[in-house]
Amino acid sequence: MSEQWSFETRQIHAGQQPDAATGARALPIYQTTSYAFRDTEHAANLFGLAEPGNIYTRIMNPTQDVVEQRLASLEGGVGALLLSSGQSATSAALLNVAEAGDHIVASASLYGGTDTLLRHSFPKLGVQVSFVDAPDDPQAWRDAVQPNTKAFFGETIGNPKGDVLDVEAVAAVAHDVGVPLIVDNTIATPYLLNPLKHGADVVVHSATKYIGGHGTAIAGVLIDGGTFDYAAHGAKFAGFTTPDASYHGLVYAEALGPAAYITKARVQFLRNLGSAISPFNAFLLAQGLETLSLRIERHVENTVAVASWLTARDEVESVNYPGLESSPWYETSKKYLPRGAGAVLTFELAGGHEAGRRFIDSLELFSHVANIGDVRSLAIHPASTTHSQLNPEQQRAAGVTPGLVRLAVGLEGVEDIKADLEAGLRAAKG
Ligand SMILES: Cc1ncc(COP(=O)(O)O)c(C=O)c1O
Repeated sequence: MSEQWSFETRQIHAGQQPDAATGARALPIYQTTSYAFRDTEHAANLFGLAEPGNIYTRIMNPTQDVVEQRLASLEGGVGALLLSSGQSATSAALLNVAEAGDHIVASASLYGGTDTLLRHSFPKLGVQVSFVDAPDDPQAWRDAVQPNTKAFFGETIGNPKGDVLDVEAVAAVAHDVGVPLIVDNTIATPYLLNPLKHGADVVVHSATKYIGGHGTAIAGVLIDGGTFDYAAHGAKFAGFTTPDASYHGLVYAEALGPAAYITKARVQFLRNLGSAISPFNAFLLAQGLETLSLRIERHVENTVAVASWLTARDEVESVNYPGLESSPWYETSKKYLPRGAGAVLTFELAGGHEAGRRFIDSLELFSHVANIGDVRSLAIHPASTTHSQLNPEQQRAAGVTPGLVRLAVGLEGVEDIKADLEAGLRAAKG
């Protein structure tokens, strides 16, 4: 593969050659749990890390490997790890640097499931999280730092708030206080934004969304930039600088250099906690990636059209999409997302909660589902679904108001999308 190839070429070719055994040109699905050892010496070498090779599909699989290489290329990282869901990827990304007794600083503008993970599950594991209510203010991140802080975490485009993270400013504070910046780049996708090029250290995706792209597979990925030097901070990241008793006494930072983080995530988090992706789901991601740029271009085109159409409607109080000039994040979005601000938008109906319910119930083309990033147009009422676990104050911090509707605009004909919304708006009036 040539590093010079364009995004469009790499989304089809990176990481894959015709299959050495069969010549198969498309990516084979290696639907196997395990791999035959040539003899006992070969087996011992693989287990003893003396020789690279496949052992068991919980830890690695050739179909998975191609998709990991492709995503590492598309995000500009040194390595990637596929996992069974976006939730698992966020967990792995953070628990790879933070353990019991540690602390994380996170933006308060997060997907509801991530908020629940950090607010409720992490403290049970002994990892405390401080939420930054004003993530646009670099000083607010700095103020939340404690001596035991091990990472900063935020979404590049908040779901559903639509705020755009100033990655460079937040990365600068993170590095100044000696921690990596980990970002969830799900809504932006690698086509619209490469956070590693702006100073982030690790990128997480719910690959369930635009990477798979067709609403068929739950999956997650982390991609490491290889940029954060875990050995340069004394005993702070002991997990990287002291021997791992669970893995041959390996000292990750010493033995692996820039590949320390992603290898540790694979052989500790994935191997021991076990949230492996299936080879078939890895194949579905590869299939989705082949058309990522084309799909995202059309997703953005349709979303821009829908956002400006909704803005002109009397039934709509406000439209929130970072690609609209009226968005507080328009300037940030122009800097970080010159090709477009994704395909998720929210709007507030004049009639509040009841109007929102009538609107959703009357849609026909739009599907009422808890997902984004499908070729199909999707709609949901976050306050009663994805963000229902949050109290009203936490909902406000995440940009969720009672009458808010979230759309994930799909790839159907834009006139059909508008016609369905038109019918919804009529119903919303009652
Ligand atoms: C921004 C974001 N991050 C993470 C997740 C979690 O991903 P998954 O549902 O694949 O576990 C989601 C799911 O909606 C999401 O929207």
